[in-house]
Amino acid sequence: MLDLTGKAAIVTGAGSVGPGWGNGKAAAVLFARQGAAVFCIDNNPDAVAETVGIIASEGGRAVAHTADVTRSDDVKAAIEAAVAEFGRLDIMVNNVGGSAPGSAESMSEEVWDRQFDINLRSVFLGCKHALPHLRQQETSAIVNIASIAALRMSGDRPHIAYSASKMGVIGLSKSVAMEQARKGVRCNVVVPGLMNTPLVENRLLRQLGANDAATLIAKRDAQVPTGKMGTGWDVAHAVLFLASDEARYITGTEIIVDGGMSAMMPGAGAA
Ligand SMILES: NC(=O)c1ccc[n+]([C@@H]2O[C@H](COP(=O)([O-])OP(=O)(O)OC[C@H]3O[C@@H](n4cnc5c(N)ncnc54)[C@H](O)[C@@H]3O)[C@@H](O)[C@H]2O)c1
Repeated sequence: MLDLTGKAAIVTGAGSVGPGWGNGKAAAVLFARQGAAVFCIDNNPDAVAETVGIIASEGGRAVAHTADVTRSDDVKAAIEAAVAEFGRLDIMVNNVGGSAPGSAESMSEEVWDRQFDINLRSVFLGCKHALPHLRQQETSAIVNIASIAALRMSGDRPHIAYSASKMGVIGLSKSVAMEQARKGVRCNVVVPGLMNTPLVENRLLRQLGANDAATLIAKRDAQVPTGKMGTGWDVAHAVLFLASDEARYITGTEIIVDGGMSAMMPGAGAA
């Protein structure tokens, strides 16, 4: 089940913004454990080297590559380097993204543009430059990462560009899925909810003006119907499934990984 032996995968944002397991880092390590050769892309050379070190220490095959996935030349060169290294490309995971707070009135145009670059342009470029290589295989898969922020909005803490660009990831992915449906390339989305990744302590603590990580984590846990945030591994397992041959009849859709959050009635608790 979920065997990736013989396949070559690219994961963008394969490092983590701090100690622990981000979604891309967990996906890269999980892919390698399932037998894939993994080309790990990140704009932080130390972060991606750590992920590749973990894979190598477990006997897996991985290559670290530094690139900014908002830049077309970087993405094209990275994907060509992956194909030169592994001789093929079967799986493309466009994982880079991140949120910035702000409403239609408070957000600057510069932040809006940067949010669209990191969350949506990066996914567009990943698809654009990977597709000619993915199509060389009989079957191949793209998995893009969105966010529950695309599906449920907060009036008191808006992230207008994050919500809009992540909704864009869902629309883009359905479009790619239809373009490629008869050409053997599937394209799907994983939609994470509140996850306890290194992002919480490294960016959200500052962004939300919270006093300490433990209080912020407890507050985020309490918002989830199951009572706990998910982890990078929960996202990684959904990514693995969508990337695997077991998902061969699945394209143009989303798997929501949110502990039930998007199913909950506003203001209601979980039993
Ligand atoms: N963590 C969460 O709670 C959460 C929730 C919903 C959705 N997501 C989504 O999951 C994805 C991964 O989130 P995460 O928190 O695991 O990631 P993260 O913030 O830990 O970042 C992963 C890596 O991406 C790299 N990166 C950032 N910008 C880059 C760029 N321009 N080019 C190349 N690499 C770049 C960073 O250096 C980092 O190593 C994102 O798309 C995010 O929006 C996360």
